Parts: sequence; C-alpha cells; structure tokens
Amino acid sequence: MRMYDLIVKKRNGGVLEADEIRWMIKQYTAGNIPDYQMSAMMMAVYFQGMDEKETLELTLAMRDSGDILDLSGIKGVKVDKHSTGGVGDKTSITLAPLVSSVGVKVAKMSGRGLGHTGGTIDKLESFPGFSTGILTEHFFDQVNRIGIAIMGQTAELAPADKKLYALRDVTATVDNFSLIASSIMSKKLAAGADAIVLDVKCGSGAFMKKREDAMRLAEEMVKIGKGAGKSTTAFLTNMDQPLGFAVGNALEVKEAIDTLKGKGPEDFTKLCLTLGIQMVLSAGIAKEEKEAEEMLQKSIDSGAALDKLAEWVEAQGGEKEAVYQTERLPQSRYTTVLTSPKDGYIGHITCDEVGVCSLILGGGRETKESEIDLSVGIVLKKKIGDPVKENDVLAEIHYNDEQKCIQAKERLLKAYSIQEKEPGHTEIILDKVM
Ligand code: URA
Repeated sequence: MRMYDLIVKKRNGGVLEADEIRWMIKQYTAGNIPDYQMSAMMMAVYFQGMDEKETLELTLAMRDSGDILDLSGIKGVKVDKHSTGGVGDKTSITLAPLVSSVGVKVAKMSGRGLGHTGGTIDKLESFPGFSTGILTEHFFDQVNRIGIAIMGQTAELAPADKKLYALRDVTATVDNFSLIASSIMSKKLAAGADAIVLDVKCGSGAFMKKREDAMRLAEEMVKIGKGAGKSTTAFLTNMDQPLGFAVGNALEVKEAIDTLKGKGPEDFTKLCLTLGIQMVLSAGIAKEEKEAEEMLQKSIDSGAALDKLAEWVEAQGGEKEAVYQTERLPQSRYTTVLTSPKDGYIGHITCDEVGVCSLILGGGRETKESEIDLSVGIVLKKKIGDPVKENDVLAEIHYNDEQKCIQAKERLLKAYSIQEKEPGHTEIILDKVM
C-alpha cells in the first residue's frame, strides 16, 4: 500500500477500506508515514468527510494503536462517563461516589487539566494526601473491594490519536466531526469500560458552541460506541455559563460535597442525577429511570453517597475527615467580592473568561509543568437570569496574590453582561441521544 494512493483516493471523494485505514494508522504511529502526507490526508478528510464505516474503522485503528485496559478482572458492568469539558465541571467528583454507592463499578482513568478547565485529578488532590499514582493491581483490587477507584493516565492509550491530534491542531483540521468523534472515542474505548455515558457540552464555554454541532458530535460518538459493541448514550448539556457556582479546585470539591449532601446548585444537581440515572440503567442495576432516580436520591438522603466519597478518599491515601469538615480543604488567605455596577438582569456570562480568571488567580496550568494553587478561584453569586441591584455581589474571589486578584477582578467584571430585559430561562439538559 502507498500513502500517496490513499491521499489521492480520499481527495477525489473515495471511501477508504478498513484495511487501508488500519495500515495508515499503524504506519503513521510507527513513524513510517511523514507528517506532511498525514496532513494532506487530514485535509482531504476535512473536505471530503468520512462515512459511518470509515469513522468507526478509524476509531478502532486508533484504539488499537496502544494499550487497551482489560477491566475483566473487575466484577460487574463497568460504566464510564466522559465530558467534552467545560468551566466548573466537577461532575466526576459527585457522580462517581454517587453511582458507586448504589452498586455501579467505577474504574476511572483521568487526566490533569491544562489551561482554564481543571482536571479531575487536580481537583481530587485538594484532599490532603490523595494520590492517583496507584498500581494497576491495587486499582483493580480497590474497585472490587469498595466499588470505586481513579488512577492517573499511566498506560499509553491511543498514541495514534495523540500524534494525530497534535498534527490536526497545527494544520487547521481539528473541526471535522468524524475526526473529533473518532479522537474522543478511541481514548474512551481504550479505557476498557462496558458502557459509556457522554456529556457533550454545548454553548459559549464549550468546544461546540452551536447546538446543531453538539448534536451532530453526540450522534457520531454514539454511533461509534455502538459500532464498537458498547452501550453508549449521550446528553447534550448547557455550557453557556459555568456549571454550578464554584470555579477553582478546592472550591469545586466543596461544591461537589455539598451536592452529595443534597445541598448543591440546582443545575449541577440536575446534571449529576441525569447522568447518574443513565449510568445506573446502563449498568443494569435498575430497569427504569424512576427506579434509578429513587435509588440515587435515597443514597443522597441517607448520607451513603457522601460516605462513599469518604471511603474512596481514604482508600487513595487522602484525609477523609475533609469530606465531613470542608474547612480542612485548602483555603485561600483572602477573599473579596465583585459587585454589580448597575441594576438589571444577568443576560450573559462569558464562560471561558470565568475559567481564565481562575487560571490567572493560580488555579490552572499555563504549561504542563506549572504548579497549581488548589485554594483559589471564584464563586459566582449571580447567574444568567438573576435580577441584580447596583452593588449586589456578583461573585466572590478567593485569592492569595493581590496583583493576580486585581487582574482577575477586572476580567470577571467584563465577563458579566447586565441587561434591562429579563432573559429566557436556560435548561441544563438540552437533549439525549441513544
Ligand atoms: N478533544 C479530543 O480529544 N479530540 C478532538 O479532536 C477534539 C477535542
């Protein structure tokens, strides 16, 4: 086979065969196809597209390019959740112990954050002593024993995607549905779960800004998941403003804990319950939505979900007391408030900018090597649709450095737009694809 011939075929609108895609990905991962030829192929795909079968084959070839986690040593149906990423997204920290407390096996691999959307691992390290550097055999043992474990990404999952994504990023070929869907799903499939629940974010703070685009991505990913033999469901969820109120590592952990106690923000609670219900159904633990919802609600009301978080934290070396006494989580030295310059309604919050403010305060990583300050961040006091009076508190800023605080405060004020007319209500769950 010659890469040149495959490029010509795709450029002219042809359909690549499974063996051609497999060969191309294998040779590219091995370094036998140069980046300039793969760039030409990605551009040809960008313009000509890939059909459903090609997209599935591309995903499977990328999945098979590295390690595939074998979770068969863990008893029961393993369900994984994946979010396409957003600001204030602390969902895994609430959802994992919540579903685990009713019997879903959670064996999660997670990453650290880069840029303004923090990673789950960074957030969990707000529990003093918490470690994700556990060995694979301890990881399996912990899931079998207590039903939940998380580890840092140690295995080389889908290295072909890593290489391709870096190439697409610099050749203006990221924005193609088949390429995005195969990129995300190759990693998810390599992580080994039996069922996958996807949270596809949509809105100003999401990778997909438009609803029709988010829908298309969700549909593509569900088709791939099913094509690979996994039960796959996707939810389209709103990311026009940060999720919940808290943005920043320890602040988000506190909000995740409040939610496990039944005292979380309305939008975040609804999201966790919706995804949780689906995970319980996909695991075969309940047959109907209502039954699944009742199980989860009961676990919140009885404190079992919170206790599961404490058990998880302790099993991974963390201070479980911090689950019950959240003042033991990292706290910033100072706080200040941002107030409203006028009367009106909150019409819009530039979501990404709130994330950037948290990053400026020290809560995110500018480079892979940056140290992050777990204690800093922002707690929104007003969200879209809320009425405000002049001088009402819009947000609380938690900080350790005066200069950084001044910079963040200026940007945060610009992120809020206050209007005279009451805006329409925004739902957190926009759609479901299955
Ligand atoms: N995230 C991914 O993992 N891959 C893409 O192609 C786009 C976003």
